[in-house]
Amino acid sequence: MHGTPTGPAGTGSGRRPGGSGSRAADREAGAAPTTGSPPAGRRSGWFISFEGVEGAGKTTQLDLLRRELEARGHEVVATREPGGTPVGERIRAILLDPVAGDLDARAEALLFAAARAQLVEQVIRPALDRGAVVLCDRFLDSSLAYQGVGRGLGSEQVERINGWATAGVLPHLVVLLDLDPAAGLARRSGRRDRIEGQELDFHREVARAFRALAAEQPDRFLVVAAAAPADQVAGQVRAGVLARMEGSRVGLG
Ligand code: TYD
Repeated sequence: MHGTPTGPAGTGSGRRPGGSGSRAADREAGAAPTTGSPPAGRRSGWFISFEGVEGAGKTTQLDLLRRELEARGHEVVATREPGGTPVGERIRAILLDPVAGDLDARAEALLFAAARAQLVEQVIRPALDRGAVVLCDRFLDSSLAYQGVGRGLGSEQVERINGWATAGVLPHLVVLLDLDPAAGLARRSGRRDRIEGQELDFHREVARAFRALAAEQPDRFLVVAAAAPADQVAGQVRAGVLARMEGSRVGLG
């Protein structure tokens, strides 16, 4: 369903081989996520996203991995979706505001894609181009699970608008923190945002969608059971991520 993710040397991840590599050209072509090699002389970083249902512990685990990778000498850029840029954070506020409860599903998908486009252009691509490791709290797979399946828009449509929005930039690795959605929601305190406030069946669909994505692309996903204490989960995330990075011969500091 996705194109092949960019290999470990994929600076400007996902640019089509032999294409102009320009974002404008990718837009013209409605670029689907594809693989590509970095232009000669450019460094290539690594892009890892964290995914999972509400309350799965993505933010905690991302932060623990960030510290681990920094201790190993990597430049790490940690960011989140929707958000991570001034414009993206404003879009996030709209998306999560319970007052926007009647937001149309396609408008919702486009707003997530718009925030993603801005994040790729301003943060992710520049970081990858200078050889950093990018850790992103959610990315495209959230749109496939929440909008494609949860909202019923269909994966193809969601993938298409996002292929265009991101010019094909895809994570090298997706860490899926797998947790029963009822357990995740129970971990949350305080007022639920617009999406957390959806019924449990919606969150169950999303959880199933994440598992299906991981099953379809085992090379690109690292699935970690997230019900265990955070330090145990962190150990599994660390071991899995380092093994994948080593397997791809990324300099590990
Ligand atoms: P989340 O990371 O859960 O924020 P927080 O943990 O701070 O509450 O993300 C916000 C919500 O947005 C979450 O409910 C999932 C949803 N979401 C989508 O529906 N589609 C997307 O493409 C993304 C990135 C997030």
